[in-house]
Amino acid sequence: IYRFPLVDVQGIPLMNSIAKNWSAVQAFRPDPSDVLISTYPKAGTTWTQEIVDLLLHNGDAEICRRAPIVLRIPFLELNSPPPIPAGLDLLKSVQPPRFMKTHLPIQLVPEGFWKNKCKIIYVARNAKDNLVSYFHFDQMDLTQPEPGPWDEYVQKFMKGKSWYDHVKGYWKEKEKRNILYLFYEDMKENPIIVKIMQYLDLSRSDDIIDKIVELTSFNVMKDNPMANYSFVPKAVFDQSISKFLRKGEVGDWINYFTPAQSQIFDEDYARQMADVDIPFHTKI
Ligand code: A3P
Repeated sequence: IYRFPLVDVQGIPLMNSIAKNWSAVQAFRPDPSDVLISTYPKAGTTWTQEIVDLLLHNGDAEICRRAPIVLRIPFLELNSPPPIPAGLDLLKSVQPPRFMKTHLPIQLVPEGFWKNKCKIIYVARNAKDNLVSYFHFDQMDLTQPEPGPWDEYVQKFMKGKSWYDHVKGYWKEKEKRNILYLFYEDMKENPIIVKIMQYLDLSRSDDIIDKIVELTSFNVMKDNPMANYSFVPKAVFDQSISKFLRKGEVGDWINYFTPAQSQIFDEDYARQMADVDIPFHTKI
């Protein structure tokens, strides 16, 4: 399989299949009731999708087994041929309120979402764990550019600026645009599910919330074929290289960054994040 190079769209490197589909993405007309789950890739998108789907369906365990997560909550900008379903075509056939996921930075989100004041659930993950997770993903997703050696990957992440731009872009707009801004590191605790529930104007009992916590735990999701991406053929996602649900921990970066790399990263981070005060935590 060919590892497609990323394509520059308005200064942002996007997957080839998304760039090819760009005019359709920008023309997408959301309904005011549409809800976007937005993340930088590998920040906990799938986890949030599963929580949302279960909240919508009263914690019914059958729900998360009925179809692949990409069909239950499709990917806004990916309209590629199978094996990954055509997100936009699928969206046309789903009745509002529709939920979809996106990895677009805020400046590339189709204008209709802002015009219609759609709800946006944003999930951010601390930079170092996000990077480690992406490093593994780029190895196993055989359509992505090769990640190369670890040290180069870290350099590229710092220079590329796209993580910094992503988390800051949504942070700066969160009040004005009514964005629910969440952190991966807080997601193991029930209050986050309650926050999402309230943001979506839903009301669910404590028992249902507890059930959702259980059904969306790392161990349950990793064994659920409809959540663990084993529905994507091995020629695309080779999970013998690295699992999609790989580790699911806070602070795994410590096993990858040398102290020297960590120091350089932290100094650069302080510069790139100097204009915001986003309360990330990087240890358990
Ligand atoms: P790791 O590679 O650190 O394990 P995304 O869904 O945005 O692609 O993010 C994938 C990351 O979220 C992976 O991180 C994956 O293991 C983690 N993840 C997915 N479901 C999870 C869950 N229920 N609990 C904790 N982490 C989860």
